[in-house]
Amino acid sequence: MYEIARRLDLNTVQVTETLVYYSMLRRKPLGKYHVQICTNVSCMLQGGYGLLEHAKRRLEIGHKEVTQDGVFSLEEVECLGACTGAPCMQVNYDYFENLTTEAFDRIIEYLDLGRNPEPVQVISGALHPRHPAETPLISKLWGIRDSHKIDVYVQHEGYAGLKKAVTEMTPDAIIEEVKTSNLRGRGGAGFPTGMKWSFVPKDSPKPKYVICNADESEPGTCKDRPLMEMDPHQLIEGIIIAGRAINAHQGFIYIRGEYRYVLNIVERAIEEAYSRGYLGQNILGSGFDFDLLIHTGAGAATHASSRRFRPSSDCMGVRRSSTTLRRSAQCPRSSAKAAKPTPIAARARTAGRGWSAFRAISASRASTKFPSAST
Ligand SMILES: Cc1cc2nc3c(=O)[nH]c(=O)nc-3n(C[C@H](O)[C@H](O)[C@H](O)COP(=O)(O)O)c2cc1C
Ligand code: FES
Repeated sequence: MYEIARRLDLNTVQVTETLVYYSMLRRKPLGKYHVQICTNVSCMLQGGYGLLEHAKRRLEIGHKEVTQDGVFSLEEVECLGACTGAPCMQVNYDYFENLTTEAFDRIIEYLDLGRNPEPVQVISGALHPRHPAETPLISKLWGIRDSHKIDVYVQHEGYAGLKKAVTEMTPDAIIEEVKTSNLRGRGGAGFPTGMKWSFVPKDSPKPKYVICNADESEPGTCKDRPLMEMDPHQLIEGIIIAGRAINAHQGFIYIRGEYRYVLNIVERAIEEAYSRGYLGQNILGSGFDFDLLIHTGAGAATHASSRRFRPSSDCMGVRRSSTTLRRSAQCPRSSAKAAKPTPIAARARTAGRGWSAFRAISASRASTKFPSAST
């Protein structure tokens, strides 16, 4: 900690504050497999506490403890953004949703044998059977095969709005159009988007940035995850249009650290957008330039250790997407303060009680095929 403070020119209290605030930053090594069980409201209602107690008994460790052999560590966590698949857990940031105690045991047994159980297919609740009267608000691509790919997005009129915005409309006209549409933010306040954009001073010579906060963690409201998972180009297109409207040339997507698989999807989508000329220099021949990069958070905004409520993007920047970073300038703030999340330690120090008895039982049982955590 002293070394981190020295290198980043901070005092140790600032470093400690950061370590305490972000749930993915650790001061002690974890087990090889770090098991995080959510007990926030949706999971609690679906048996999350029972699951946690079961996990404590089976692993013979408590919250934030590591098994004697260093193979497993356990943590009770706040909303993982999988409320539609409650109760859920993550193991090394892979999702296992709709969990039962039986499924939990099978996953642990598999891991203990060195096998990798497939994470339960992520459906994010967006793909439920649709009622005829239902109008999808977040994406019209829900349920369409490969909807995250640029070809599918373009087939469904994707990037047509961007083309119009950069080739036919002035920034003021874009803001007026967004105001007229009554589009409102989905980050919690429902604030009118066009009005928000109009607040950015037009005549200021200072550089402007578009920052997309995808660090959601409000239980029961998670929609950023399915949006990024299944319709990332809609997000990218919206960010570029926002950039054009406020005369920004750099955007950031701040993605919740726990959404590890989503990071890969959005990163690929950004690469696709660059390769088709929707991002970068002279977008669609309009003379407008815009770069976009991803930052990941280091743990959700609300978490058990502090219960404070502050978007973690306030201290944005823990890990940058390497490919997008190469394309554009580093975030000035985060480049100075960036710190990598502690990797899962291969062999952790002893912190918990032994669980050799369970391991012996596991070994004899785990010859059965691992089906699915939801069965
Ligand atoms: C009720 C409420 C809940 C929020 N929840 C979160 C959250 O879970 N994670 C987060 O990073 N920010 C959260 N925020 C902050 C918003 O995401 C942030 O202010 C964002 O800029 C809003 O963008 P929008 O205008 O597009 O909705 C919340 C804000 C409000 C008012
Ligand atoms: S409350 Fe558990 S994933 Fe949201």
